[in-house]
Amino acid sequence: MTDIDTRELRNCFGKFATGITVITAVAPDGTKLGLTVNSFSSLSLDPPMILWSLDKRSNSLDALKNASHFAVNVLASDQMDLSNKFASPSDEKFAGVELIDSKYGLPLLAGAVAHLECKNVETHDGGDHLIFIGQVEHFNIGDRKPLLYANGQYAIAARHPATRQAEPDEAARSSSDDFIIPLLLRSYWEISDPFYQELQDEGIPVAHARILVHLSHTPELTVNELSKAIRVDMASVAMSVTWLCDNGHLTRLENDKLVISEQGMSHLNTVQCRAERFEQEVLDGYTDQEIEMLKSMLRKLIYRREI
Ligand SMILES: Cc1cc2nc3c(=O)[nH]c(=O)nc-3n(C[C@H](O)[C@H](O)[C@H](O)COP(=O)(O)O)c2cc1C
Repeated sequence: MTDIDTRELRNCFGKFATGITVITAVAPDGTKLGLTVNSFSSLSLDPPMILWSLDKRSNSLDALKNASHFAVNVLASDQMDLSNKFASPSDEKFAGVELIDSKYGLPLLAGAVAHLECKNVETHDGGDHLIFIGQVEHFNIGDRKPLLYANGQYAIAARHPATRQAEPDEAARSSSDDFIIPLLLRSYWEISDPFYQELQDEGIPVAHARILVHLSHTPELTVNELSKAIRVDMASVAMSVTWLCDNGHLTRLENDKLVISEQGMSHLNTVQCRAERFEQEVLDGYTDQEIEMLKSMLRKLIYRREI
């Protein structure tokens, strides 16, 4: 016996940030099994091996010990619901879950960042857990952002500010680096592309987000006025507006002008929360003074023609 406080030890383990996986397998009687696991780790490249550990109290213990293969599904940043679903004991874990084809007949979760199909080669005793070692027989990788877990909370990966590329020295700069329009455009793309990709991954198309944001500060616009204001072509705006109206996010007034509904406001809130978090990530590492100076310069450029 030691005098270690288990709860505190759990908090200590939680300081080590991990990704999140769902281990899936098929029991000898054909039942699909799955549970959320963050104890996954790579083990060996040659031969290709991985490991993870299972609580000996798990309902899936016997079936997993006897399974010939298991799959590691590395979850993407928008798959928190799957992580929660597979972390609760239930016989219905796979209900409504989209699966993709597997070389070895394993349940592979659609949309995961990576899948590793492994032969269940060894188990080792590990205190109150059983360590599973798998030999990787097949794997695939996607290009989505992984879901992370740190300090007992879900998190999303962001590149460390200290690893950002430094400004190129004068000789290495291209001529476009001296003109304000390409500089503004490129800085906009640099920031907005990953943000819009994140929204897209969460099922929020860019046009929807832009329409809601614009109508929140400039209500009562027609489709034509909206298209001009957000610089998206009429056909795309019309299509998004139809979807937003049909789904209760926008209301079309009698004069054909559009306003956000209460439901639309809560949709907008989701976009704004994501934007705030994204802005924090982008500006992390800059001083408050630098951020204020940047914002002030941009505001001056925007309002320069208004007296
Ligand atoms: C983020 C997270 C990570 C987890 N990691 C593990 C793990 O590494 N090993 C484990 O046995 N349980 C882990 N769990 C708990 C199991 O997912 C949970 O107990 C699940 O219900 C077990 O499945 P079962 O009901 O089929 O036994 C984790 C849960 C969460 C939310």
